[in-house]
Amino acid sequence: MEQIVRAKIIGTGSYAPPRRMTNADFEKIVDTSDEWIVSRTGIKERRIASDDVAVSDMSIKAIENAIEMSGLSNEDIDLLIVGTVTPDYKLPSAACVIQEKMNLPNATAFDIVSACTGYINGLSIASSYIQTGTYKNALVVGAEKLSSIANYNDRNTCVLFGDAAGATVLTASDGDRGVISTYMKSDGKLRELLWIKGGGSVFPIKEGYINNGFDKVMMNGSDVFKVAVKNMCYAAEKVIDDAGINASDISLIIPHQANIRIIDAIAKRLKADKSKVYINIENYGNTSAASIPLALDEANRAGRIKEGDYVLMVAFGGGLIWGSALVRW
Ligand code: ACO
Repeated sequence: MEQIVRAKIIGTGSYAPPRRMTNADFEKIVDTSDEWIVSRTGIKERRIASDDVAVSDMSIKAIENAIEMSGLSNEDIDLLIVGTVTPDYKLPSAACVIQEKMNLPNATAFDIVSACTGYINGLSIASSYIQTGTYKNALVVGAEKLSSIANYNDRNTCVLFGDAAGATVLTASDGDRGVISTYMKSDGKLRELLWIKGGGSVFPIKEGYINNGFDKVMMNGSDVFKVAVKNMCYAAEKVIDDAGINASDISLIIPHQANIRIIDAIAKRLKADKSKVYINIENYGNTSAASIPLALDEANRAGRIKEGDYVLMVAFGGGLIWGSALVRW
């Protein structure tokens, strides 16, 4: 019988900058309170990178840890996908900068602009390439310096975001372990619920647009919330159904860490005990594409994932776009 080739996760790594910004720090700059932020979002603090640290710098630290765990060498990596909305430059991609800084001479490197769903999209694409034999060893990174696009005058958004990077090494493997099923979906009609208006070809960088806040994230939080809960629940159930297993078979759920109330709603829908849901939002806030690979690495290094476990990851972000991945560890 012909063996199925799967993309198996053989290394994880992550990095968060050391500087902590607490809710008390936000009380000094916008009209907010620790009580509001904790009760509405679950966030207590987030990490903020210093001015001289770019997304590529955080990514490299995460990648070094992931490659070391994988046992591969840099030369083995033939694909590098980076999910980010805060690349070092508008052009080239963060992936190409990382390729050079990390010395990954044999990799094809590109970015994915899917906001908080960037890592899941990257995982899905890398898995497909590995299954078809196009690439053998892939690095999938989610990395964001959201402090560079957060509007620190807007209490609706600035309290939510933090900086971090997470990385995963995938390799082609025979057998039943690896990425089992993935799902991706988007709805561009809803793009203005969460966007950065300026800096593209509609509103190119020019004097004055910074004063309009066009260079910062704008979000209709309550509308995004409703779409997120509905579609993240659907995406989670979809990959479980596609794999032919039950929600009760899942050992660990790693949801995108955007809001504790969204995470609780997903757990409730899947009838999952809280102990099966990985939550670190209180420490990092929403780190967009970095959120899931950061949580995955923490869970992995803490021994929360055992060989043969089913791990479910589910994300949602600006686009609007959402997706999920089911992995057998
Ligand atoms: N402190 C105090 N009050 C605040 C704050 C704050 N930091 N932020 C908002 N408020 C106020 C609002 O002004 C509003 O006041 P009003 O009633 O006087 O107008 C009130 O709180 C309620 O505002 P809502 O927006 O309805 O609050 P909600 O309960 O929806 O929580 C939140 C807001 C946390 C943003 C939530 O809607 C959310 O998490 N949305 C989803 C975010 C998400 O998942 N984004 C996708 C990923 S992000 C990405 O892709 C980069």
